[in-house]
Amino acid sequence: MTTESVANSVQLPPLDNPHERAAVGAELQVLLQDLIDLSLIGKQLHWSVVGPVARSVHLFIDELVGEWRELADVVAERAVTLGSVPDGQSSAVAAGSRVEPVVVRSMPDHAVVWELGRRAAAVAERIRARLGSIGAADLVTQDVLIKVVGTLEKQQWLLRVQLGEKA
Ligand SMILES: [Fe+2]
Repeated sequence: MTTESVANSVQLPPLDNPHERAAVGAELQVLLQDLIDLSLIGKQLHWSVVGPVARSVHLFIDELVGEWRELADVVAERAVTLGSVPDGQSSAVAAGSRVEPVVVRSMPDHAVVWELGRRAAAVAERIRARLGSIGAADLVTQDVLIKVVGTLEKQQWLLRVQLGEKA
């Protein structure tokens, strides 16, 4: 082992597959962009909602936005822990987010819940699809992402019940 690799092994956590360190960082970067964008779109819909239950949807969305911001922080800090430098600036989010933007207009409460729910579901599904390969590279990052998916899926349940659908 060279002096440099000893130093790296002291500073950076060893991965199950150390050759995948940059790839895991890139996965976390993409997810960071999605989560930040989800929080921005959530705020947009928080301001756009109209209708009989607009107030409760308006308040509920703020809870979701807070959770997405916290998840983004957890994802970014996992990237830093592994030796990457995440970019959460608006330019990176605009260039790389896979979350579909919403039309800027007033929107009925039920439509807001549906629009937000399907975007959160899409983010969760994309992470689920990557869990196996990320786990092969680093089980600890996989564990972080499992918690992210768990939170997103719990939110989908809470959004479903807002629509009056069965849990
Ligand atoms: Fe507000």
